[in-house]
Amino acid sequence: MEKKAEDNFEDQYGRAGVRDTPQLLEYYSKLKALNTDALWTIANAIEPWEPKPTSIPMLWKYKDLRELVIQSADLVKPEEAGRRVVYFANKGRTETGACVGWLYSGLQTMRPGEFTPAHRHMASALRFIMEGKGAYTVVNGHKIDLNARDFVITPNDCWHDHGVYEDGEQCIWQDGLDIPLMNTLDCNFYDVYPKPAQSAKYPLNDMPLSHAGSGVLPDKLNWENDYSPIMRFSFENTYNALKDLDKVSKGDKYGGHTVRYINPTNGGHVMATMGGYMQMLRNSESTTSYRRTGSYVFQVAKGKGYSIIGGKRFDWEEKDVFVIPSWTFFTHHNLDDNDDACLFCFNDLPIMEKLGLYFEESYAEYEEALKKGYKSSYQGRD
Ligand SMILES: [Fe+2]
Repeated sequence: MEKKAEDNFEDQYGRAGVRDTPQLLEYYSKLKALNTDALWTIANAIEPWEPKPTSIPMLWKYKDLRELVIQSADLVKPEEAGRRVVYFANKGRTETGACVGWLYSGLQTMRPGEFTPAHRHMASALRFIMEGKGAYTVVNGHKIDLNARDFVITPNDCWHDHGVYEDGEQCIWQDGLDIPLMNTLDCNFYDVYPKPAQSAKYPLNDMPLSHAGSGVLPDKLNWENDYSPIMRFSFENTYNALKDLDKVSKGDKYGGHTVRYINPTNGGHVMATMGGYMQMLRNSESTTSYRRTGSYVFQVAKGKGYSIIGGKRFDWEEKDVFVIPSWTFFTHHNLDDNDDACLFCFNDLPIMEKLGLYFEESYAEYEEALKKGYKSSYQGRD
């Protein structure tokens, strides 16, 4: 006899705990014939006690991928591929194209003189430049130069194309997009620009240069978009901010020193659906274990070390990419006694925060919750 409700049986008050009987099985058959079903047969499975991400903690070594990424330039032209990218496929998310959760990421390469066809889409996008010289992006007519370890946004619905100047060097950068989320929400669109590339409508680097000073904004700025007018965040500025922060702060035991990339007009995240931050681990620093909702993609901007993610160790060095799924305990460790390490991260924190979905828990809080018979500190709160 086919079992039904008992597959997800839980012997706890407040949870679904219905035993199968011949009468119930017959009842379920009648419901099924009418394209319905009894919630209590699946309730415990679709509403687990805590998040159960299908994404797996994974790390991709840059030294393993670099040659293959460069080789893609021999095999496919950007105008054929649209976007010539080798993407990170999470083993738990293969049907979505995600590297973790609802985030997509990949490595794109561009040779001198090449450019991607200009286009726009509902997915938000960002890039972290890894190597090469002479890269640029054009976002809604704003042309911006890109150097190694710069972080640049191409917000949703903005025309964008990227390339490398004729006198540049072959470049590689990491792309990050929320394509899987847009598809899940059934709201993705794609459009191709009427010309191969945009013409710059403003002075070169106008938006980053207009916001080059911390604590000041252009007086006549008229900005009503929900993304950051800075558009490009240089590594130099970001790193200097972290070093200055270190002079006056002991940092946070869960994160070391962290600075968030912002929209300076409201202090919020750089884009509506994706945010980013840079984290510095001082010499030999180790962070304390905690977990949080949201999906997180890291690129090692500087240094070497390892992270323990979901109980598994991942050793990393510069330009490696790794992911931390939602609600997964992690720690970071800088293995260098004489230098700091920097981790670039992009994530879906804006969504978690705006929708009231953000929740975090230290490992110590988790252990306390277990002692009380709870699954996590989400339970038993005031
Ligand atoms: Fe794009």
